[in-house]
Amino acid sequence: MSFKQNFLWGTSISAAQSEGAWNIGGKSPILLDYATSGNPTTNSRTIHFIDENGNRSQMPMMVSTKIPKGAKLEIFNDLYYANHNASDFYHHYKEDITLMSEMGFSTFNTSISWARIFPYGIEGGINQEGVEFYRNVFTECKKHNINPIITLYKYDEPVYFMEKYGGWTNKEMINQFVEFARVCFTEYKGLVTKWVTFNEINMLLANTITGHLETEEEPNQKYIEVHNQMIAAAKVVKLGHEIDGNNLVGCMICGLCNYPLTSDPYDVMETYKRFQDEFCYCADTMMRGSYPGFVKRIWKENNVDLKITEEEKVILKEGIADFLAFSYYMSFCVTTHEDAESSQGNIFQGVKNPYLEFPSWGWSIDSIGFRYFLNFLYDRYQKPLFVIENGLGAYDKEEDGKIHDPYRIDYLRSHISEMKKAVEEGVDVMGYTTWGGFDLVSASTGQMAKRYGLVYIDMNDEGNGDFHRSKKDSFYWYKKVIKSNGEDLK
Ligand code: BG6
Repeated sequence: MSFKQNFLWGTSISAAQSEGAWNIGGKSPILLDYATSGNPTTNSRTIHFIDENGNRSQMPMMVSTKIPKGAKLEIFNDLYYANHNASDFYHHYKEDITLMSEMGFSTFNTSISWARIFPYGIEGGINQEGVEFYRNVFTECKKHNINPIITLYKYDEPVYFMEKYGGWTNKEMINQFVEFARVCFTEYKGLVTKWVTFNEINMLLANTITGHLETEEEPNQKYIEVHNQMIAAAKVVKLGHEIDGNNLVGCMICGLCNYPLTSDPYDVMETYKRFQDEFCYCADTMMRGSYPGFVKRIWKENNVDLKITEEEKVILKEGIADFLAFSYYMSFCVTTHEDAESSQGNIFQGVKNPYLEFPSWGWSIDSIGFRYFLNFLYDRYQKPLFVIENGLGAYDKEEDGKIHDPYRIDYLRSHISEMKKAVEEGVDVMGYTTWGGFDLVSASTGQMAKRYGLVYIDMNDEGNGDFHRSKKDSFYWYKKVIKSNGEDLK
């Protein structure tokens, strides 16, 4: 058998993209609650607000622009906000966990919404209703022998923090996060032993939706924010070990796999730099406990001075992550030649690889890249890897009351098959969770129509649907894969 006996199989969702109940159970609003949906070609996700002159205004969500000075985020009744109800996991978690159990899951990844636990920071007090919600979810998992892996931060910090502290440039956010983690580790001791600190922490380097309600941008802002998050993560790794010796606390990086478009040495160099800039900047620091040498180049190019203290150096050293979790969807090419055609991703972009297909939302399919990446990362970090997101977003069509999704099965089959080879080649993989096994709201476009699920959820982009769950063909296929511990991929 290629995969270890205790290999973890499951799926991954997130609080903000699945739970809904955006203003129920004491939760405070998060930035995504103010975002309407878009689509990949003509219309980006949009944040709506009232500007400083009292006028209704809006801005695209996935940009580096900060929400303008004096703006007030507001919900408008004439707009539809997909994240408000999402897939209503909040009210369907028992049914969903039963379906997970039917598929034979040994794990399940979701995030804890910070805004449910501390809606208004430490100063506002713990929201007990939020604490109990997740206790119920994890207890239900335990009932079904599902050993969850839980992400502490995934696009769901209260907007309150942005308004009060201006976001992650403020070191107070570190204290706030550590306290939030302390509550989670303490309350869920015995129910959860695998944790991830920040989801795709490297995405912040691309100015993504983790959100700022900043007024004036500081030149080095994103590096300061990432630095503060990495310090917070390192503290939380240490704390997690102190609270429960059984805890494993990992980091999570967006898996950006790049190839040089040509054999031009400039393309090769540029590709390597891209890997350092986008992936290793965070992964090296969190997996090795100090910033790598090449940051000298990055900080010089970007005129960054982080003023790292001796104390912070010790914190990073003492908080090395136990495992490296990462997402992998596609690969990109990098070139220094100007005439290359670009290809899509949800945030980062690259140029088009002529050897690959781009069937869905302009994202490439590259399962060999997955194997290459698994080998590459294990060689570099020599710590267990956890594949926490992998999947295909596609339009699903119901026929005779059923969803036949051979395209999704093909995607997952080819990726699991390459992961199996990597394991046979010596890579230590702890587990694999497909992304979005229960249809949810796309992070980049805000669409429900971009479906990753093994389970279909009846909700469309206009808010019509009754949230009933139905099994797609991929549900039965994945069940077979899990039962055979990855041996039967037919
Ligand atoms: C990952 C994110 O990068 O990509 C998920 O962690 C996201 O939250 C996933 O949903 C797929 O991207 P999208 O834009 O298709 O939802």
